[in-house]
Amino acid sequence: MQYTILGRTGLKVSVLGLGCGGPSRLGRKTGRNEEESVAVVRRAIDAGINFLDTAESYGTEGFIGKAIAGLPRERIVLSTKKTVSRKGVMAPPEEVPASVEACLSRLGTDYIDVLHMHNVRPGEYEYVRDVLVPQVRKLQQAGKVRFIGITEDFDGDSSHTMLRRALGDDCWDVFLLGYNLVNQSAARTVFPDAIRKGVGTLVMYALRWARRTAEARGELARQLIAQSRMDPSAAGQDDPLGFLVHPGGASCLVEAALRFCRYSPGVNVTLSGTGDASHAEANARMIEGPPLPAEDMARLERLFEKVDHIP
Ligand SMILES: NC(=O)c1ccc[n+]([C@@H]2O[C@H](COP(=O)([O-])OP(=O)(O)OC[C@H]3O[C@@H](n4cnc5c(N)ncnc54)[C@H](OP(=O)(O)O)[C@@H]3O)[C@@H](O)[C@H]2O)c1
Repeated sequence: MQYTILGRTGLKVSVLGLGCGGPSRLGRKTGRNEEESVAVVRRAIDAGINFLDTAESYGTEGFIGKAIAGLPRERIVLSTKKTVSRKGVMAPPEEVPASVEACLSRLGTDYIDVLHMHNVRPGEYEYVRDVLVPQVRKLQQAGKVRFIGITEDFDGDSSHTMLRRALGDDCWDVFLLGYNLVNQSAARTVFPDAIRKGVGTLVMYALRWARRTAEARGELARQLIAQSRMDPSAAGQDDPLGFLVHPGGASCLVEAALRFCRYSPGVNVTLSGTGDASHAEANARMIEGPPLPAEDMARLERLFEKVDHIP
């Protein structure tokens, strides 16, 4: 496994992080039992992954706690998240310390490396920054939280409106945002300033379009061409991503997606979640490949340069 530094946190992190939410939630959503979920985390750690991302709302913190029990704490970087709103009602500030204590107890640790404000919508940003973050600062002073992060609602805010605003403030050590082969907009609107400010970055939705069917990607291309957002001559074939799989390039689209994210300037950690330990191991292997060929990268950029509205 290759490692990098997570922006100004200085934390040494694996370039692939284990996402413990997403569609699998370590198998919670795909019919796996608790033992199997714990085994996914252990196998990921054995493959060299030291960055584990979860949230109080995922129901997977306890699996991580079981998987890391007995390991030296400094071997693992733990990222979890505080829910900031439920059904449109913002979390009151006094909820923050109790939430963090509960996370610590489920994770079986006495500190969280990165505590994120979770899924912050543009209209919630100021409340989170001005009302909730000061509470997190107190926990930071008490040694219970090391760094403060913020995550976006990529489905509803695919062009990063909230994070572009957050770049104007200095309280964020880490961003978690959507980025993939199709929506590369963060490379234009977030990563350059994140690099300049030393904000560490984690990306989600990395595999989203790689895992869809060729038909779904073909349908997307037809829509983008109809909206004048894609150059039909660059699309070329039914599956607009099919060209990435070839002997000198990636062996499959999952690999293409992982190598694309891993080598994008500004990306520190690519998150991938699974309920299948063999997928965790395969992803750890695939992300170690070299950058995609320069001509493939150029074609990808030309194809999707006008896309910023699709998660
Ligand atoms: N706003 C937020 O803060 C937010 C929102 C969403 C996600 N997240 C975080 O980001 C992480 C990533 O989320 P995501 O939405 O990108 O999804 P994800 O959790 O990475 O899920 C990826 C999907 O791809 C499948 N998969 C993984 N490796 C594969 C492989 N080698 N071959 C085939 N299928 C494979 C998994 O299914 P299998 O189980 O079959 O492998 C899973 O359904 C989450 O786990 C979570 O930690 C944060």
